[in-house]
Amino acid sequence: MGKAEVSTQIGGVQLEELAVMFGTPLYVYDSSLMARQVARLKAAFSGLTHRIMYACKALPNLTVLRLMRRIGTGLDTVSIEEVELGLKAGFTADEILFTPNMVGFAEFQRAVEYGVHITIDSIPMLELFGQAFGGKVPLFLRVNPHIMAGGNERISTGHIDSKFGISIHQLRHVERIVATHGMHIHGLHMHTGSDILDAEVFLQGAELLIDTAERFPELRYLDLGSGFKVAYKEEDITTDIEELGRRITERMVKFNTGRSTPVEVWFEPGKFLVSESGTLLVRVNLVKQTTATVFAGVDSGLNHMIRPMMYGAYHQIDNVSNTGGNTRIYTVVGNICETDTFGWDRKLAEVREGDLLALRNAGAYGHSMASNYNSRLRPPEILVHNGKPLLIRRRETLVDLIATQVAHELE
Ligand SMILES: Cc1ncc(COP(=O)(O)O)c(C=O)c1O
Repeated sequence: MGKAEVSTQIGGVQLEELAVMFGTPLYVYDSSLMARQVARLKAAFSGLTHRIMYACKALPNLTVLRLMRRIGTGLDTVSIEEVELGLKAGFTADEILFTPNMVGFAEFQRAVEYGVHITIDSIPMLELFGQAFGGKVPLFLRVNPHIMAGGNERISTGHIDSKFGISIHQLRHVERIVATHGMHIHGLHMHTGSDILDAEVFLQGAELLIDTAERFPELRYLDLGSGFKVAYKEEDITTDIEELGRRITERMVKFNTGRSTPVEVWFEPGKFLVSESGTLLVRVNLVKQTTATVFAGVDSGLNHMIRPMMYGAYHQIDNVSNTGGNTRIYTVVGNICETDTFGWDRKLAEVREGDLLALRNAGAYGHSMASNYNSRLRPPEILVHNGKPLLIRRRETLVDLIATQVAHELE
C-alpha cells in the first residue's frame, strides 16, 4: 500500500484521537464494516432459505453480539459459556447452535436445558446422548469429510487426522445408533477449516455433505460451516463469496426440488464478518537498531494479538502518525519476554518513538485470544457506531488481574 493510502480514521473517527481518549494498546472496531459483511453474505445466498450463524469465538463482545442479532444473524457457539453469552445478549435458544468438540456430557446436558440446537461430533457422545435423551432432543451431526482445507494446519479441521467430526465412513454405524435410540437428526454440519483459499475445496466438502444428506430423511438443516477467507495483504486471494453463493444456490435448489419442506442452509462465519472491522492500535516505546535489524518496539505483544506468533499470520501494519514519512524497514515487536514479533521486515513510514501504529484486520481472534501473559492487562475495546466511539470493554486493572487469586501468607 502506498504512503498516501494509509487511513488514519475508522468510521470517521481519527485513530490518534481514539488513542488519546482511551489510551493504548486499544482494539477499535467499525460496526459498519460488520454490517457490510453480513449484508454481502445474505445477498450471496439470497436465492436460498439460509441462516448466518455468527461464530462468536472470533469476537464475543456482548455489544457486538447484540449488533449481530439486530442485523439478522444467529450464533454459532463452541462452549457453554458462549451459549450463555449469546442468551445474555438476547439471542433466543432457537437462534443458537452449540458445536463443541471434546466437551463432557454435563456440558451437553446444560445445552439441552437451555434448549439450543446441538451438534454432536463423535460416536461415543452420540451413544451417550441416545441413552440419556432418546428421541427427545433433535440433533445436528458434525461430519468429517476427510478433505484438506484451511490456511494453516492448526485451523484445518476436516482432514483424516483431525479430531473433529464423525468420519464420513462411519455413517452406517451412526444410522444404527440413531435407529436403536429413536433419535432425530435434523441437521448435518461440516467445517473443514479456516482461511480456505480454494472455493473448489469448499464446494467439494459441500457436495459430500449433500450426498450424506440423502441418508437422513428428517433433515431440516445443512450447516456448511465457514472458512471464508479475507484479505490480509492487498494481493491476497479471498473466497469469492458471490461465486460460491451462485454455485451453492444452484446445487441446493436441485437438492430441494421435490421436497415438501426445503432444507435450510446454514453458515458459521467468524473471520469474514468481523476481521476487517478491527484494528489494534499500539504506541511505539522504542526504536532500537541492532547489528542487523531496526526494531520498532511497541506497548503490546503476543498477549494481546497472538495470530502472528501462533499461525505466522500476516497483519498489515501502518504508521498512522507519520503517513508522509520516508519508508524504512522495521521489524515490529512487542514487549513480551520471548520472541514476540508482529511483523518482520516491514516497510513503514519512518517510525519515531511515540508514533501510533495500526495493526489491521485485527477484529477476529484478536482480543478473543488475548491473555494476561507477563501479568499484563488486556486492552479495552471500542466500537465506532454511527460515527461515535463506544467503549464496549474497559481496560483491565490490577484489581481484575488478581480478582480470582486467593493469596495466602505461607509460613
Ligand atoms: C465449528 C466452527 N465454525 C465456524 C468457525 C469460524 O471460522 P472462520 O472464523 O474462519 O469463519 C470455526 C473456527 O474455528 C469453527 O471451529
